[in-house]
Amino acid sequence: MDGESVQMTTTQNDRHDDGAASFDPVLNPKFEKYGEANKVVIEYPRMMRALKKVEDCRQMSKGAREPECMLIIGQPGVGKTTIKDHYLSQHPRQETKAGTHVPVLAATIPVPAKMSTMATALLAGLGDPLAAHGALDAKTLRLYKLVKDCGVELIILDEFQHFIDRDNDRVLRSVADWLKNLITETKKPVVLTGLPCCRKVLEANEQLRRRFSCQLNVNAFSWRAPGRPEFRKFLALLQRSLPLESAIDFSDEEMAKRFYHASHGRVGALTKIAKGAVFIALEKGEKRISQEMLAQSFADRLLPQEDRGRRKDDPDNPFHAGWEHVQKQAFAAIASKHASKPKAASGRSKKQVRQAAAEVFRAG
Ligand SMILES: Nc1ncnc2c1ncn2[C@@H]1O[C@H](COP(=O)(O)OP(=O)(O)OP(=O)(O)O)[C@@H](O)[C@H]1O
Ligand SMILES: [Mg+2]
Repeated sequence: MDGESVQMTTTQNDRHDDGAASFDPVLNPKFEKYGEANKVVIEYPRMMRALKKVEDCRQMSKGAREPECMLIIGQPGVGKTTIKDHYLSQHPRQETKAGTHVPVLAATIPVPAKMSTMATALLAGLGDPLAAHGALDAKTLRLYKLVKDCGVELIILDEFQHFIDRDNDRVLRSVADWLKNLITETKKPVVLTGLPCCRKVLEANEQLRRRFSCQLNVNAFSWRAPGRPEFRKFLALLQRSLPLESAIDFSDEEMAKRFYHASHGRVGALTKIAKGAVFIALEKGEKRISQEMLAQSFADRLLPQEDRGRRKDDPDNPFHAGWEHVQKQAFAAIASKHASKPKAASGRSKKQVRQAAAEVFRAG
């Protein structure tokens, strides 16, 4: 692979983002292992590279007149918030004799994002019991002072796209200016995470853009070369991170293709399918996860509500045993339909069409 060390850790970050996770393991000992699965953070190479860049920002900014800021962008469910949470868990706040030390200050940008709500969110992150109190100027000055007093070395703000007004798609310039002032006054590096559309905020504000020259895309995994080995490596780590054995090899080429189709390479969907299968196994009192349980988990948890009637035994389900055969037939039909058209109509020769269809199939 790429030679980086990969390992799993369990952190205090036990965010529950799906309905099945809301059980109480104390009351439901049968599902205790599901609670374990929820807490595991898989440290895969791509995530470790992102964490290293965040750490670089912190180190390079020490004593600098202008801090090194960074923007992390990615589609929903690729793991941006987990990067923030994991970095935070590695640099927890500490109560010392001298006071509270908060090396990393993290907050979620509120909706609507206003200067005042931003100041409140950051003051709350520092533990200010009166975070919501006071006029904007007073809160902002209090924030600057607390950032210094608490020894903050890096600020992470999640959901940067909230700097765009949803109603009219306009960048909220006053909040963007407030953020620029925060960086200038405190001299602390800021890491922003958000959806790809949040680039627009930087495009609209040159002073802010200049401070965020470091930008990182956290993409979904790819099935095409050269991304496939990395995807399969992640699947192996995912399988290892689960609290139950599995009857199948997640990272096997054929199984990996099924996972890819089911998730479009997004970490959120992959973990959801796997954890759902753990839940099903525990419910059935089984010791091992089966392919059928993955099919059930996909049908129950990833299909849109109206499609959930499509049972695990539907051949359209990527984990169904006959799924690959059905896919091949469908693509062969597409290829032959296009290939039967004269070259002038499709713009491609028969050979090119066959190659394109095969490529589509391989890429999934
Ligand atoms: N490294 C990881 N290890 C284990 N689970 C992970 C990891 N990364 C992401 N997940 C899981 O995937 C899901 C989506 O991750 P996360 O919330 O971080 O994505 P996101 O990019 O912030 O999504 P959104 O844009 O919707 O906020 C979460 O349930 C999270 O627990
Ligand atoms: Mg998020």
